[in-house]
Amino acid sequence: MAPIGVFDSGLGGLSVLREIVAKRPDLPAIYVADSGHCPYGAKSADQIIERATAITDFLLGQGAQLIVVACNTATIAAVEYLRANYSVPFVGMEPAVKPAVAATRTGVIGVLATGAALAGDKLHRLIDRHRGEVRVITQPCPGLVEQVERGDLDGPETRALLTRYAEPLIAAGADTLVLGCTHYPFLRAALAEIAGPGITLLDTGEAVARRVASLLPAVPTADVRGPLRWYSTGDPAATAAVGGRLWGQAIKVDAMPEAP
Ligand code: DGL
Repeated sequence: MAPIGVFDSGLGGLSVLREIVAKRPDLPAIYVADSGHCPYGAKSADQIIERATAITDFLLGQGAQLIVVACNTATIAAVEYLRANYSVPFVGMEPAVKPAVAATRTGVIGVLATGAALAGDKLHRLIDRHRGEVRVITQPCPGLVEQVERGDLDGPETRALLTRYAEPLIAAGADTLVLGCTHYPFLRAALAEIAGPGITLLDTGEAVARRVASLLPAVPTADVRGPLRWYSTGDPAATAAVGGRLWGQAIKVDAMPEAP
């Protein structure tokens, strides 16, 4: 079977890939960490489209039959462009605003995302479509992606950032926080501790995995495991070191060749 391609600005997309593998272990997959250009959160939409195009070209060259844009920021900036310019299906991220609106009991939710994700109007249109009577507070979270890229999931600096971003939302009455960046599920344990009991944290990795599974026919033999291949546009050794920790087992990472 042809592989699926999965990419992110760095290692955050592993939180999506792990859900895909849990649901469909038979699917061969190629993961690209755009670590040489991380974070996307401070980039313009045009710069993100350029990166998404370079990675898509590489993945198609490797035979990818479907591409998962495992990055909310890249989805917001680039998925429409990718769908208009390539014929393979693209599955993107959609922050869990709709389920959060359904889940809140206080009538207040918080949306944590990158600066670039909050800069365009796509996320705000999603919020307007689903908010109903619910108050939605958005919170840009500079620095969190970098902490995950360093593998610092619950050190003092990471906790200080999480506290700074989550506390005002909770003080404003939010009982549900949307993890609107694929890096943030790796901070779930620390954030849950900081937020305290009664605060629900929502991400959409599992929903994306369901969508991928629905688009691709299942292999009849249940025990087939699709091989996983890993690429980085940064230092492959560094990506392998932190990526292996986040993935839960050692991974061998190759450099993604950039087109001249
Ligand atoms: N994982 C990306 C996302 O979901 C992070 C973007 C960034 O590099 O800032 O938005």
